[in-house]
Amino acid sequence: MSRRPLLAAAGAAFALAAALSGCGVLGIGEEPADLQIYTARHYDLEEAFGKFTDETGITVEFLSGDDAELLERLKAEGDDTPADVFMTVDAGNLWNAARQDQLATLDSPKLERSVPEDLRDPQSRWFGLAMRARTITYNPDNVDPSEFDTEETYAGLADPKWKGRLCMRDATASYTQSLVASLIDLHGREKALEIVEGWVANDVEIMSNDILLLEAIDAGACDVGINNHYYLARELAETPDLNVDLFWASQDGAGAHVNVSGAGVVKSSDNPEQAQQLLEWLADEGQNAFVDANHEYPVNPDVEPEPLIAEFGDFERMPLNAEAYGDLNAEAVDLLAEAGYE
Ligand SMILES: [Fe+2]
Repeated sequence: MSRRPLLAAAGAAFALAAALSGCGVLGIGEEPADLQIYTARHYDLEEAFGKFTDETGITVEFLSGDDAELLERLKAEGDDTPADVFMTVDAGNLWNAARQDQLATLDSPKLERSVPEDLRDPQSRWFGLAMRARTITYNPDNVDPSEFDTEETYAGLADPKWKGRLCMRDATASYTQSLVASLIDLHGREKALEIVEGWVANDVEIMSNDILLLEAIDAGACDVGINNHYYLARELAETPDLNVDLFWASQDGAGAHVNVSGAGVVKSSDNPEQAQQLLEWLADEGQNAFVDANHEYPVNPDVEPEPLIAEFGDFERMPLNAEAYGDLNAEAVDLLAEAGYE
């Protein structure tokens, strides 16, 4: 097929990302960029991709949208898709795109070297590129960290001693759903249900976003929450005296829950070599440019995290099971409803 600008292909449901340095939104008659990226990652992409273009001369442009919408679009466009790279947040979404046969199998020793095994597809169709941890945050005036169960910290929040002290995210958040899917994967459905029922019995207060949750902890309205680490970093960058500390969950047990943003090369890409080159760059030379702006962890163990999150210290992670997060998503949603968690 011929390459065409995304603007012409974009439907009303999708917003085109703002013009990026060296790779802006195209007008009619202009040459399309070398790589077209469908992305559901809602963080700042400008710096990393501008740098990639500067270093390689390969231009990129974006179509931003919701994970499920972009995947449906890829499937509907089939062989005619202008997309070369599919980028999304949450390993379950990446696994879903691969399961629905939208991603190419890559042969890339560099990606295999750069991305730990549990953070990529066993069949090399997608690769995690930025890692986030979902762990415990607390108000140090109201909580002594020795109160936490160090073996099963998430489960431990079901203990009656936390009654009236908990704040968590809503059941519709993919962050909540993947955490619960990981608890089902780890403990089985019955125990996972008991855990969530315990949170509900403790009158957990449900918040609509992670920032509100941190502000409530800072204000003393909640003692303990579960947050993605980068929201705490973001708040601390603005308000260094924020009265919220981070606790690494389950360090004497299965480890802290993590998830990734990642990407794969679209199966019917017209430009698979350059698309693979982009993924390789993001996983190696471009790791800091890609992850630091959002205070995420590099997936590449040879790359240092940025100074603010480096202060959170080293931690053990629960091995990521993308297949489980994808497969168990519906069960997690169902379990949350059964437990009365809203
Ligand atoms: Fe987020």
